[in-house]
Amino acid sequence: MPPSFIMQAPGAPADHTPLCRLADLSDPGSKGFEFGEAAERFRFFVVRRGAEVFAYRNLCPHAGHPLDFPPDRFLTPKGDYIHCASHGALFNPEDGICVGGPCVGRRLLPIPVYLDGETVCFGEPRENSS
Ligand code: FES
Repeated sequence: MPPSFIMQAPGAPADHTPLCRLADLSDPGSKGFEFGEAAERFRFFVVRRGAEVFAYRNLCPHAGHPLDFPPDRFLTPKGDYIHCASHGALFNPEDGICVGGPCVGRRLLPIPVYLDGETVCFGEPRENSS
């Protein structure tokens, strides 16, 4: 489970903020999000694999660069790994662990997201949601 400080980070959206529809993401696919401004900018991205979604801060553990270039391109061409455009690090979509490139063994910082029906939302699911 992601640390709760992520949800209180400057610029982070409010808990349960709708981000997009699941159908807005290719399968596999990814999309970046940005909330806040200037020093409080909060960047993260969502990866879809089938009916599951995963999310991470858009910050590579190697040198601290955003991962995507061009924007929203976070995955390898086959969609099997998250890819950092700067120096080619590869990360498992399911756990964010680096499995190739200059930061093997380090991991992306997970962001809590969940599906509310067909909507991808920020935060932890409500107690009564299924
Ligand atoms: S900044 Fe991502 S691999 Fe170097």
